[in-house]
Formats: sequence, structure tokens, C-alpha cells
Amino acid sequence: MKTYALQMEGITKEFPGVKALDDVTFSVRKGEIHALCGENGAGKSTLMKVLSGVYPSGTYSGRIVINGKEVHFKDIKESQDAGVAIIYQELALVPEMTVAENIFLSSDLMRKKIIDWNELYAQAQYWLDQIGLSIDPQTKLGELTVGKQQLIEIIKALTKKAEILILDEPTAALTESDVEILISLLKDLRAKGVTCIYISHKLGEVITLADSVTILRDGQTVSTDSIEELTEDKIVTKMVGRTLTELFPYEKHDIGDPILEVKNYSFHHGGINETVAKEVSFSLSKGEILGVSGLMGAGRTELFISLFGGYPGKKSGEVIIDGKTVDIKKPSEAIQAGLAYVSEDRKRYGLVLGMEITKNSTLAALQKVMPKGLIDTEIEMKNAGELTSRMNLKAHSLEAKVSQLSGGNQQKVVLSKWLFTNPKVLILDEPTRGIDVGAKYEIYKIINELSQQGVGIVMISSELPEVLGVSDRVIVMSEGTITGELTREEATQEKIMKYATAGRDKNESNII
Ligand SMILES: Nc1ncnc2c1ncn2[C@@H]1O[C@H](COP(=O)(O)OP(=O)(O)OP(=O)(O)O)[C@@H](O)[C@H]1O
Ligand SMILES: [Mg+2]
Repeated sequence: MKTYALQMEGITKEFPGVKALDDVTFSVRKGEIHALCGENGAGKSTLMKVLSGVYPSGTYSGRIVINGKEVHFKDIKESQDAGVAIIYQELALVPEMTVAENIFLSSDLMRKKIIDWNELYAQAQYWLDQIGLSIDPQTKLGELTVGKQQLIEIIKALTKKAEILILDEPTAALTESDVEILISLLKDLRAKGVTCIYISHKLGEVITLADSVTILRDGQTVSTDSIEELTEDKIVTKMVGRTLTELFPYEKHDIGDPILEVKNYSFHHGGINETVAKEVSFSLSKGEILGVSGLMGAGRTELFISLFGGYPGKKSGEVIIDGKTVDIKKPSEAIQAGLAYVSEDRKRYGLVLGMEITKNSTLAALQKVMPKGLIDTEIEMKNAGELTSRMNLKAHSLEAKVSQLSGGNQQKVVLSKWLFTNPKVLILDEPTRGIDVGAKYEIYKIINELSQQGVGIVMISSELPEVLGVSDRVIVMSEGTITGELTREEATQEKIMKYATAGRDKNESNII
């Protein structure tokens, strides 16, 4: 039997008003990939922050034993020195710097008064070769796909001699082909003896990758099993404490007159001096759910942000909302015209993290909470309460700051905020990124309800099963144009992928 790389025993961690971890036991064998699963707010990230010294020794109770020795980390530096490396979903890299500079950012190689560039590039090349990545170390990091950047982050951890590698939702922002590369790298690392803790809401990945799975629910350990004893359904049941019978609550609904019509629309983004939408034409009807598919970088987000007035630039073509031609130049005009846009990047565009849930959830329609010119906190509370109870928001109080919520619960607040504007057209950009299976179902139900009320819905998503399970119709984009359109009945993963790679260099979607 293999020995343990890590044992966490009786870990309890409280925040004011919340017991995030309650007597958690978590043991990881040397050289295995151990998945950590649980609903949003179950305590996964908190447990990893305890392990990596983000929450220092003394701020939690319980014991942490690494390679048989008890440890008391006072900060992240100490855990790094002991071989623990944590990679967050939000990458901590500098896009303007080269790959080599990023890899050795905090190492002695970069701290020297006179940097030996030949040495730096040679070292970087060595590590790139080690994991079989054919990238020039002098490439600017920002030119790589998010997937490749993720791999660079892992190399960076490996150069620090990481023995325990923690990945907290690493694939939430990756396309399917990038995910495959990451998975094969993790398998290679396992063969080399690196221990890996893998947090993901994508249970298919967990099944293909993990050797063991620990499940947390409400801050407590439910079970640890080896993968042979589990199926996706079994994991879900343990996570939510009940059996989920269906993943997509799709119901047939009436589709009405066109609500958004876009004709020969092109947009030249002044900020980056690039044409992000080229001769795009599509229409969306009342009550219709339009899925928008495509590979990362296909221009889906850019198209809809430009329609929402989010970029400076020049446009041509025509946009008609509810029968009226509009000329939207900024987001406030878009909201006025009946559009709502739920961003894929909730931290950057969606939320004010230091503000309460109540305030965040009404932010996009302040006039509705200010009937007499002043903010009426009672209306605020009532609305925040109604919207969030529909989404099973997990928070100890509606007046808690959004920064204290788990990732998935933050996403629910973003959605509430936009629903509060009563939009005619709701644009959802990766709406279930980082959301657990149970809450995904809740969000799909809300999408269905809204469509039944006649709201036109655009759902940009990189998860093909979600696009197929939720949409009435699917448009596929590549390189800033629409390359295909499929009805719900016609749409399959294969057809979507064929359109998504249309006009692209075949190798481009492959990362290596
Ligand atoms: N800094 C904090 N202050 C107060 N409460 C917190 C803080 N950080 C986390 N919590 C609470 O602790 C609980 C566990 O949160 P955690 O982020 O560990 O969940 P998670 O399992 O990672 O969820 P997700 O899948 O959504 O990322 C949640 O109820 C959360 O609101
Ligand atoms: Mg988390």
C-alpha cells in the first residue's frame, strides 16, 4: 500500500457566522490524482487555502501532516517551501512578459541584478521539453491560449519542486481540446510521482482522471472512495444528498415575433484595432433560446459585448430590438433598450466584490430601488431575497459581502442582478461556469421560465452538452463570423464542431 503524501485531520474553519469546514478529514496517497468534489459552498477552496497557508496555522483547528510530518504553515511561502503548489482558476501570470519570464517570475534567476537571458531561456526550454510543449520561451504569454497559459502555470509550479499540486477548477475556462492536453499532462506527472489534488465540477473529467474522490457537503466529509467504486451518478448523489434524475429541464415553449435582429453587422474594436465581428446576421425571437457555440477565440463574447455597447469602435450594419432600429453606444443605452448581459468574467464585469449581496443584486437597475430618489433598503432586501431564493443562494446573510461567497454562489448573484432589470433580451456568457450540477439545473430552469415569459435568450457556452440540452436553435461562430446554424433537432456535437473549426487552420485548435 502506498503511503500518504497528505493527511488533514479534524479540520474546522469558521468565518464570522459560517462554519465553512466542520471536522474535515482528507487523506491523499503519494502519487495519486485525488479529486475533491462538492456543491458550491461545500468548502473545497477553503480546505485548500487551509492547506496552502492562505489561512495560517492558528486560524483553524485540526492537524495537517505532509509526508508523515506535522506542519504549521504561517503563509503561502512556507507551504511552497514544503512542496505544496496551488493553482487558482484566475491565473497569476503576466501577459506582457515572455513565457520564460513568467515561469521564473519569482525565482532567483529573475531576481539577479543582471539577468542571464541565455540561461533563463535555456532553463525555460528544458522545462517546456520536459512536458512536451513546443512553444518558444520568448513568446509573449498573452499570445497563448488560456489553455497553454494554464500549462505554463503548472510548469512554474514544477520548477519550484512541487510535490503536491493543487488545481482549483483548472478547466472551467478551457475549451475541450485544451482540457485534453491538461489531462494528459496531469497523467504524465502522476507517472513521475507528483501528487495532485483536483477540484472540478466537471464530473466526466473526474471519472477519467482521478484515482480517488473525496466528497464534501456543507463543510463535512461525506466519503473518500477509489474511482473503481464510483460512477458520475454516484458522485452526484453523494454531493447533493439526493438523486438527480435529469440534467436538462427543457420544455417546449412558444416562440414569438423577432425581438433582436442583427443584419450585416460588423464591428471594428478601436481599443485593440481589430475587426471583431464580420458581416454577422442572425435573429432571435421572443421566448427563444439561442445557443452560441464556437471555440475559444471565435469572437462570441466580442460580438455580444460590442452589441451591448461595451467597446469603443466603429460599426456598420443594422440592429433592431423589438421592431425599432437602435444605435447602442454604451451599456446604459443597451440596458435602456432592453438588453442584459451576464458576463463570463464575473470578477471583472459582474460584481463589486466589496459590496453586499443586496447592493450587487440591484446594481443594474438602481432606479427600481429608488422610487423616491433615495435607495429604499427594504425593497433592496426584498428583491435580493426573492431572486436569490430562486437560485438557492448559499450565504449566511444577504448583507454578506460578495467576496465572501464561494465561486458558484457569486455567479448566482450576477445572474440575479441582470434578472432584476427585466430584460427583453438576456445574453448569458458561460452562465454555468464553475457552477455545481444541482445549481446548474436551477439555472436551466430559470432560463426555461424566462423563455416561457417571452424573454429572448442568447446563451454563449463552450460546453456542448449544455448547448444541446438547453437551446431551441444553435448558431456557431468562427473567426468573428457565423459559420453555421442548426435547429434543436438537427444539432449534434459533431456538426457543431465541424462548423466551429470551419475556416481555421486545423492545427490551431490543438494546443501542442
Ligand atoms: N472569507 C470568507 N469569509 C466568510 N465566509 C467565507 C469566506 N470564504 C468562504 N466562505 C464561506 O465558506 C463556505 C465554503 O466556501 P468555499 O469557497 O470553500 O466553497 P467551494 O466548495 O470552493 O465552492 P465553489 O464550488 O462554489 O467554489 C461558503 O459558505 C462561503 O460563503
Ligand atoms: Mg471554490
